[in-house]
Amino acid sequence: MPELSGKRIILGLTGGIACYKSAELLRRLQDEGATVDVVMTAAASRFITAETMQALSGRPVWLDAWDARADNRMAHINLTRGADAVLIVPASTDFLAKLAHGLADDLLSTLCVARGAVPLLAAPAMNHEMWTHPATQRNAAQLLADGVTLIGPAEGSQACGETGSGRMMEPDQILRALVAFFQPKVLAGRQVLITAGPTSEPIDPVRVLTNRSSGRMGYALARAAAEAGARVTLVSGPTALPCPDGVSRIDVRRATEMRAAVMARAAQAHLFIAVAAVADWGIANPSAIKLKKQADGQPPVLDFVQNPDILAEVAALPDGPWCVGFAAETDHLHEHAQAKRARKGIPVIVGNLAQQAMDAEDTELVIFDRHGAQTLPRQSKLQAARALIGWIAAHQPSR
Ligand code: CTP
Repeated sequence: MPELSGKRIILGLTGGIACYKSAELLRRLQDEGATVDVVMTAAASRFITAETMQALSGRPVWLDAWDARADNRMAHINLTRGADAVLIVPASTDFLAKLAHGLADDLLSTLCVARGAVPLLAAPAMNHEMWTHPATQRNAAQLLADGVTLIGPAEGSQACGETGSGRMMEPDQILRALVAFFQPKVLAGRQVLITAGPTSEPIDPVRVLTNRSSGRMGYALARAAAEAGARVTLVSGPTALPCPDGVSRIDVRRATEMRAAVMARAAQAHLFIAVAAVADWGIANPSAIKLKKQADGQPPVLDFVQNPDILAEVAALPDGPWCVGFAAETDHLHEHAQAKRARKGIPVIVGNLAQQAMDAEDTELVIFDRHGAQTLPRQSKLQAARALIGWIAAHQPSR
């Protein structure tokens, strides 16, 4: 489902080579269902033409505060009325300075001052010396204090050939930041700890025992919790997934490493969501050298040892976080999930059918608590994660 359906965005371009990325961002915003009105400064039109942005947006592009196309000659007022956000991409050194001081000497700077309660987001883009200059840093701090959301900048190689902080975020990241901005901040101020992915138990230096968990549900929950305003730590087994924006990830392999990483952080967390498919058994003494086939054809004998139950240990902490478990079952979902909830001593367990969840984009979650079960509609894992975070925020006792 498009993420920005019904939203009207004012996309402001200021002078910088990163303007070429604004064309791509415009397309991405439209793909997500947004209606986009483009406003450009004179400097921006040195880097990309208004014709390009007009052809892509299918709407008039605005450049001039005196534009006669506005019947009342008040484009600086008209444009933001009814808009959901003003998004400045790229935001130049000069434009940040103007915003911080409330200067209004062209259409874009004037509409920013005249925008009322419409949120303002800006993606800075400049040479690293310009970004780290004390005046720019003062201006950025002032903008944050004024409630402006800054997206980036990132570190990396720059158009000038130098390297450092000041590079503009990529269109994808800016899009995700805007989508996140619109999510309700139901976990603001909360510290959330999440486990995700499979664990991987070594047999020898080249072989492991693992399972088919992709980690997608846990990563979607980490993203949804971060979007909801929480500080999120994700303890992850091996997966191919990128770390969600704003989430701090700790990579582990064995269940015992996952347990150590979780127990070191559980006391500070308000909420613990255990999504990882933790291996129930590890190998007692993994071989330090690669196991070789035997001449007599006998297979190796592996000694298993039961892994710690991380979720049950966290649930047993005297002043621990509120715990939400996951149960992927192949059958008798309600009976198994409720039994697991009781056995682990946790208030909530979220169930799904393993054969439907594995390798699938969509999922149907069932939330079990002491009152019974509530089924969420089948939807993408990200949508399901957002719905679950909403449910958790509404049910988690304040601590
Ligand atoms: N879990 C955990 N540590 C373990 C095993 C499971 O933290 N060693 C957590 C999972 O992250 C999940 C929940 O417990 O939130 C249920 O996991 P599951 O593997 O379904 O349960 P098990 O305890 O392994 O039960 P069973 O083997 O009977 O299915």
